[in-house]
Amino acid sequence: MSASYTRPMLPAGTFSGRTIAVTGGGTGLGRSMSEYFSALGANLLICGRRSEVIESAAQEISAATGGQVLGLSCDVRKPEEVEAMFAAGAERFGTLHGLVNNAAGNFICPTERLSYNAFNSVVDIVLKGTYNCTLALGKRWIAGGTPGVVLNISTTYAWTGSGYVVPSAVSKAGALVMVRSLASEWGKYGIRLNAIAPGAFPTEGAWSRLRPPELGPNADPMKRIPLGRHGEHQELSNLAAYLLSDFSAYITGACITIDGGTWLRGAGQFNALEDVTSEQWDDLQAAMKRKRS
Ligand code: HXC
Ligand code: NAP
Repeated sequence: MSASYTRPMLPAGTFSGRTIAVTGGGTGLGRSMSEYFSALGANLLICGRRSEVIESAAQEISAATGGQVLGLSCDVRKPEEVEAMFAAGAERFGTLHGLVNNAAGNFICPTERLSYNAFNSVVDIVLKGTYNCTLALGKRWIAGGTPGVVLNISTTYAWTGSGYVVPSAVSKAGALVMVRSLASEWGKYGIRLNAIAPGAFPTEGAWSRLRPPELGPNADPMKRIPLGRHGEHQELSNLAAYLLSDFSAYITGACITIDGGTWLRGAGQFNALEDVTSEQWDDLQAAMKRKRS
C-alpha cells in the first residue's frame, strides 16, 4: 500500500457546486492541485500564458476526472486579461468561489547581474500577478455579497529572504503580507486568505530554473531536508484542498509550511552539528567530561 501522504485526503464531493480558479494551473504544482480539486467535484478555471499548454491540460484533467475545466490563456501581469478571464469563468460557471495564486516566474542569478527588466519580469508575475487576480476576484465577491477563499503558493524565503532569487523573495514576501493584511480587512465580507510555503517539490518548471544540472552537487537540497525526502504533489494538494474547503472555515491569514523541516534546519545556529559523526561525538563527550572533572 502507498504511503498515506500520497493518497487523496478529503471526502468525495468536497467541492461539488464550487468553482475554483488556479493561475498557472497547466503545469507543475498548479496542475496537480487542479486535478485534485476537479476530482473533488470543483468546476475549474485554469490559466497560463501558453494557450497550447493550458488547453491540453484542461482537456486531460477533464478526461481524468469527468469534471468541467475551462483553460484560458491569460497573462496575470495584465489586469485587462485577468478581468477578461474571470468574466469568461463567470459566464461559463456562474459564481467563482476560490482562487489559487500559483503562477510564478523565477530563476537563480547573482542579484548584481540582473537587468531592471529581469527583476521586473519576476516581480510582475509573482507580486503584481497575485494582487491583480486577488483584487479582480475580491471586488466581484464584495460587490455580489459572495464569500470567497484565496490561497497563495508562497515559499519559506518569503520570511527568511534568500540570495540568488531576490526578485522572487521580495515578491513572495509582499504577496504574503497581502494575504495577512486582507485576511483582516476582508474578513467582514466572508473572504478568507491563506498561504502555503512548500519546500522542495520536484517540477520541471522549478528544477530547470533553480537546480540546473550544471550546478552539480551544489543543487542537491536533500541533505538540508530533515525528513530526508522531497515533497509529494498529493500531500501539497491535500493541504491546498483543505485550506480552500469549508473544513478550514476558521483559518484565515495563515501561512502553513510544508517543507520537511528544511527552513528550520538552515535557521538553527547549531544544526550544522548534523555533520559530526558518532565517533566524533564519543571523543567530544569524553573530552568535555574530562574538562569538567
Ligand atoms: C539572468 C535572465 C534569466 C537568467 C531571463 N532573464 N532569465 N537574467 N538570468 N537565468 C532576463 C532576460 O534576459 C530579460 O532581461 C528578462 O529576464 C525577461 O526575460 P524574458 O525571457 O523576456 O521574460 P519572460 O518571457 O516574461 O519570462 C519570465 C521568466 C521565465 C521569469 C524569465 O523564466 C518564465 O517564464 N518563467 C515562468 C515559469 C517559472 O519560472 N517557473 C518556476 C517557478 S519555481 P533583458 O534585460 O535581457 O531584457 C518557484 C520556486 C520557488 O518559484 C521556491 C523554491 C524552493
Ligand atoms: P511551474 O510549473 O513553472 O509553474 C509556474 C506556472 O505559472 C506555469 O504554468 C506558467 O505557465 C505560469 N505562469 C508564469 N507566468 C505567468 C503569467 N504571467 N501569467 C499566467 N501564468 C503564468 O513551477 P511550479 O514548481 O509548479 O511552481 C508553482 C508554484 O509553486 C509557484 O508559485 C512557485 O513559486 C511555488 N513553489 C514551488 C516550489 C517547488 O519546489 N516546485 C517550492 C516553493 C514554491 P506559462 O509559462 O504558460 O504562463
